[in-house]
Amino acid sequence: MANPDLATGEIEVLAQQARVLNEAQPPPFYINDESEIDEALRLRYRYLDLRRQRMQENIILRHRVVKFIRDFMAAHKFIEIETPILIKSTPEGARDYVVPSRLYPGKFYALPQSPQQLKQLLMVAGFERYFQIARCFRDEDQRADRQPEFTQLDIEMSFIEQEDILQLIEELFTQLVDEIGQHKLLYRPFRRLTWAEAMDRYGSDKPDLRFEIPLVNLSDLVADSDFQVFRAALAEGKQVKAICAPGCAAYTRRELDELNTLVTKWGAKGLLFIAVRGDEIRSPLTRYVSAAQIQAILQRLEAKDGDLVMIVADTAEVVAETLGHLRAEMARRLGLLDDNVLAFAWILDFPLLEWSEEEGRWTAKHHPFTSAREEDIPLLETAPDKVRANAYDIVANGYEVGGGSIRNYRRADQERIFRILGISPETAKAQFGHLLEALDFGAPPHGGIAPGIDRLVMLLAKAPNIREVIAFPKSQSAVDLMTQAPSEISEKQWRELHLQLRHDK
Ligand code: AMO
Repeated sequence: MANPDLATGEIEVLAQQARVLNEAQPPPFYINDESEIDEALRLRYRYLDLRRQRMQENIILRHRVVKFIRDFMAAHKFIEIETPILIKSTPEGARDYVVPSRLYPGKFYALPQSPQQLKQLLMVAGFERYFQIARCFRDEDQRADRQPEFTQLDIEMSFIEQEDILQLIEELFTQLVDEIGQHKLLYRPFRRLTWAEAMDRYGSDKPDLRFEIPLVNLSDLVADSDFQVFRAALAEGKQVKAICAPGCAAYTRRELDELNTLVTKWGAKGLLFIAVRGDEIRSPLTRYVSAAQIQAILQRLEAKDGDLVMIVADTAEVVAETLGHLRAEMARRLGLLDDNVLAFAWILDFPLLEWSEEEGRWTAKHHPFTSAREEDIPLLETAPDKVRANAYDIVANGYEVGGGSIRNYRRADQERIFRILGISPETAKAQFGHLLEALDFGAPPHGGIAPGIDRLVMLLAKAPNIREVIAFPKSQSAVDLMTQAPSEISEKQWRELHLQLRHDK
């Protein structure tokens, strides 16, 4: 029967006729947006979960976002080019997913972690403005904002500088947010911070900038205090830093213990509190630190009546990690995380290199194709930790939404970086010979970026994780609960692929 009032369409199927069309089992869960459904059950019956209005909206929103991006890129004279999914394994960055070759026993293809090298080769090929909605694969630990396979808006441009890329992405994101019409942009133009500033002030290279709550250095103020914890930390070259949580001075013993447990989980030995309650200062520190010093601390933190100051003394890394997390936790408790707001910011001047304890060598912070800042190049051999990269991330609301860099386009520069990364000329030739060779054939200066589509749509959909904006995602443990992948293969397949299982302990 025709019924124009139905949300599902104009035709109403009567029970009698429905039997004729198709019979249906009662679904394993009630299909509406209100009921709390176990995620494993949702993923097992994803096709039913996707019937829910919220999920329909998320998937349609994703379609609109990708459509908008394609139109925008085409209007800006970018060419969409597909790159292969079966490529060569290169041991940089995350772990590869590999595919055994039937024709070449013992050899493997790898699935791309990103089309990085291929898009650089497209610049050598003369496609000056490339983009791709690219599927990427990384075998790494899963998190709320990570999936084993995910999608990037992959971009590369020739004859450009960093500023051109920042402007392009800023224009794209601003127009996109306008088009979707669900968010207010907090910073317009987007805020810009150096990596060093972000780490110092927010303890994170992807700070949530919807709120302030900065990390404040107290090291100089407490250097000559009698408090052993501070003295010992500073003597070992560590730091004393704090944040101030407005209005939290009345926290109970239990609440303070809870925060203390949290920071120990993040790596600190503990938290020291100062609660400002009228004229009364409540803190274990009052026994060791003079009243004048406490006042100086409160003043530097701009702490007012009713505020709670939380202090950590540790290495720069541990202080950043713990106070960075704690500032986000306090913002959540204080209701400062408005998901109608997007606080976009650029993080600039990343370090080029990072020391890996595990591997005992310098590794690339972004990837090995990123160039060093011109003025820092002389430090490459003498002070590798001081070298800044021509690399940039775009962050929003505590998430890294995209990252990119200006690349090495002269062979000698690229070989020099490989050398510093401990990659021998032989290994460089075997792994990256195609790229090094290509740089010999008049490679233009080039650079690019890759925003993560899943994370972008997650923010635009106000969803709690990226699984909510992917039609058929893997679970947190990298399993497809609907089809049960990964799964066994047949004896015939093992044989065809020349494979045998190792039974290592
Ligand atoms: P990068 O590794 O920083 O850069 O990745 C770019 C963006 O991709 C998204 N992303 C992910 N999203 C979901 N799940 C994952 N496992 C995952 N890993 C990354 C993030 C991230 O910011 N080739 C370079 C880009 C370039 O230099 O041009 C690259 O892939 O949003």
